[in-house]
Amino acid sequence: MTERLIRGRVLSFVAEPQGIDDTASYRYFEDGAVLVRDGRIVETGDHADVRRRAGADVEICDHRPNLVLPGLIDTHLHFPQTQAIASYGAQLLEWLNTYIFVEEQKFAEAAHAGAVADRFMDELLSNGTTTAVAYCSVHPESVDAYFTAAEARGMRMIGGKVMMDRNAPDALRDTPQQGYDETAALIGKWHGRGRARYAISPRFAITSTPEQMEMSQALVAENPTCYVQTHLSENHEEIAFATSLYPDAKDYTDIYARYGLLNERMLLGHCIHLSDREIGVLAETRSVAVFCPTSNLFLGSGLFDRDRFDKAGARWSVATDVGAGTSFSMLETMDEAYKVLHLNGQKLTPFNSFYRMTLGNARALGLEKEIGTLDAGTEADIVVLDSRAKSAMEYRMRTAKSLAEELFILQTMGDDRCVAQVYVAGRPMKGTAGAVKQRVLETA
Ligand code: GUN
Ligand code: ZN
Repeated sequence: MTERLIRGRVLSFVAEPQGIDDTASYRYFEDGAVLVRDGRIVETGDHADVRRRAGADVEICDHRPNLVLPGLIDTHLHFPQTQAIASYGAQLLEWLNTYIFVEEQKFAEAAHAGAVADRFMDELLSNGTTTAVAYCSVHPESVDAYFTAAEARGMRMIGGKVMMDRNAPDALRDTPQQGYDETAALIGKWHGRGRARYAISPRFAITSTPEQMEMSQALVAENPTCYVQTHLSENHEEIAFATSLYPDAKDYTDIYARYGLLNERMLLGHCIHLSDREIGVLAETRSVAVFCPTSNLFLGSGLFDRDRFDKAGARWSVATDVGAGTSFSMLETMDEAYKVLHLNGQKLTPFNSFYRMTLGNARALGLEKEIGTLDAGTEADIVVLDSRAKSAMEYRMRTAKSLAEELFILQTMGDDRCVAQVYVAGRPMKGTAGAVKQRVLETA
């Protein structure tokens, strides 16, 4: 039995913050601790109370004066695009054709997929992200590489093979039957194995024929516990092309609705240019719109209009969308989210940002009983954040007077340098080159 006591300034959320001073939305312990045993949280609270519950040989991990939070959650990114971040000068469709559909062909080779998957997981962890939802390439080998790398680190990860049977190079196209068969086999192999969960992933309406959409519909109906992910309404040219391919659909959202793909486990990347009708459909079906601020700015796609989703009662989450997204860091992502909303006259409070990266995104995935809080019984995925990690931050922090101010400094100035430690199922992962090996030894 491994028991660890993680000490620091402990912050977690119990509800969505309703304003900058909504102290009821979070729990904060100035000298707090999280007691972890066998990968789960036993107790979170004041250090003195938690210490009493710990065994005599508990390992103490003292992170004072750093903040201790639930591990960060990223609800949309592309693992095969790890090495294609910062590809210059194009908007969505040209960017996909020029860079991304070239890069993703490399994943036909299992060795390449394996090497990138390891790098991808380590990059997430060094940014404090302990759970993510990723698209793999069209190749089943890329999904094996992805979940194998996640499993070696004990991470709770969601992902799936993209299905695409048109408007892509030959080497990246499957067929409706092949997409169905490969997805069904991968679900059988990975969905529910340890912490892995599968996401059925028709890439978007442009790269799937109606026959492939029908196959996706069958997969979703046959696998009601799987996630579903696709892209929606990111770019004007994309919307015109997608709707021209499905002339009977009322609009872009209706393409997915017609094939029965919209449900509470559906994650729709971007959702920037939707009509009120479309947002109403997302609200009715409880589908989740995924806000990807660094990507939307990088590709010049547009500004996510959060208030329209909130007013309609539609769900939304936040994500990096690497490799159109420019950073693996959820802190940097929330910095850009703040600015995007600001351009629309909308405010994102510091508490709301940190809620979104943790409990908010966990709720979007229906995983709030497992991750995203520091509640007793949940999985011990934890991040430790140092608000003084850069000299400019240290200098700025000298004048900070409140927790809200500190969080805003972290989000505005922070990046992976602020992640002092990250625990996956209770195991420290950062800075230990042998973290994967250590896990193998501990579980042996
Ligand atoms: N739409 C379809 N595929 C992609 C992708 O890989 N990235 C982004 N940003 N949008 C997409
Ligand atoms: Zn995407």
